[in-house]
Amino acid sequence: MSKKIVVLPGDGVGPEVTEAAIDVLEMTAQKFGFSLEFDDYAFGGAAIDACGEPLPDNTLAACKEADAIFLGAVGGPKWGVHTKRPEAGLLGLRSALNLFANLRPVKLHPALAAHSPLKEERIKGVDILILRELTGGMYFGEKKREADKASDLCEYSKFEIIRAARVAFEAARGRRNHVTSIDKANVLESSRLWRETVTALHEKDYKDVELRHELVDSAAMKLITNPGSYDVVLTENLFGDILSDECSVLTGSIGLLGSASLGSVTQGLYEPIHGSAPDIAGQNIANPVGAITSAAMLLRYSLDQEEAAQAIEHATYVALASGARTRDLGGELSCTQMATEIMTKIKG
Ligand code: NAD
Ligand code: IPM
Ligand code: MN
Repeated sequence: MSKKIVVLPGDGVGPEVTEAAIDVLEMTAQKFGFSLEFDDYAFGGAAIDACGEPLPDNTLAACKEADAIFLGAVGGPKWGVHTKRPEAGLLGLRSALNLFANLRPVKLHPALAAHSPLKEERIKGVDILILRELTGGMYFGEKKREADKASDLCEYSKFEIIRAARVAFEAARGRRNHVTSIDKANVLESSRLWRETVTALHEKDYKDVELRHELVDSAAMKLITNPGSYDVVLTENLFGDILSDECSVLTGSIGLLGSASLGSVTQGLYEPIHGSAPDIAGQNIANPVGAITSAAMLLRYSLDQEEAAQAIEHATYVALASGARTRDLGGELSCTQMATEIMTKIKG
């Protein structure tokens, strides 16, 4: 039976990288003998333009029915100053589907070491999995606005912390067995609860995994000076947003990183971690690797197609090793050409 993928191309480079990743998914499915059905829905700024809402009811209904959701990116200067913002659609979708665990793998491709802002000896071998809590914290706390005052409440419950931490500990068991939990427990009450709760869960169920706590300011520094000392990074929503962009460039370009947002429902949401990149949109020059990596994660986590997921990852690895580069990495390939290179390697 065919699996249903809802596609949300969104704004800016979103449609460009989405098209590239869907082409890769289609040919991979063909090669591995399963069938995928793709349906595009309006989302983000494009949906505001089409019907006045960033997350229209029919888009949300389709996402709830789908086997998985694939998203490009949302946002851009066109909608930046209006009260209805594309980004609100993304937050609404994450929340409506309860996608509390955002996995953002940060792995250096050896052929790209020279593109990292870090010295080669520092960046060599870096392989971090960021587990960003995605439906709590300041993003979703009460917001207040008065004439000359504004506030965003940062709230976490033990329940929210435990379910995210479990994903991190479980992931660590399949990796190098180490979790660094990042907070601001020296200042924030919500971080003190975070630290206590993670420690208690560790004591109770995950003593076999090594746990280290770090404060977010010094962690931001150590991720640059010693990125090799991290395996799984567990952190709350806002810190995870900031630290994942910081980590992404260690690998050479933000255009390389994919993500999976998972929850208690079966549908996952898959998207590159970059935004709509308005400065390069419409030119077919965006790096599609982050989107293609997200497509591989979709096959792994939502469709249980591990072999096909690995085929995409391996083909991407080989394409980069053989020198295929988009402009963010100093190359000449267009978004479409980069995807074609990867598809050629999948065909074998
Ligand atoms: P951005 O990630 O869009 O761009 C930052 C820089 O990285 C830009 O110079 C851009 O050209 C470059 N870049 C990003 N993706 C690239 C790719 N695939 N290939 C090559 N270069 C790439 O961040 P921003 O400019 O701060 O945000 C632009 C808009 O995107 C904002 O409206 C923001 O809210 C939104 N945004 C959306 C998402 C999402 O949809 N998940 C994520 C982040 C930002
Ligand atoms: C991301 C983005 C989003 C976030 C924005 C667009 C709402 O930056 O996915 O990293 O802050 O979570
Ligand atoms: Mn972000």
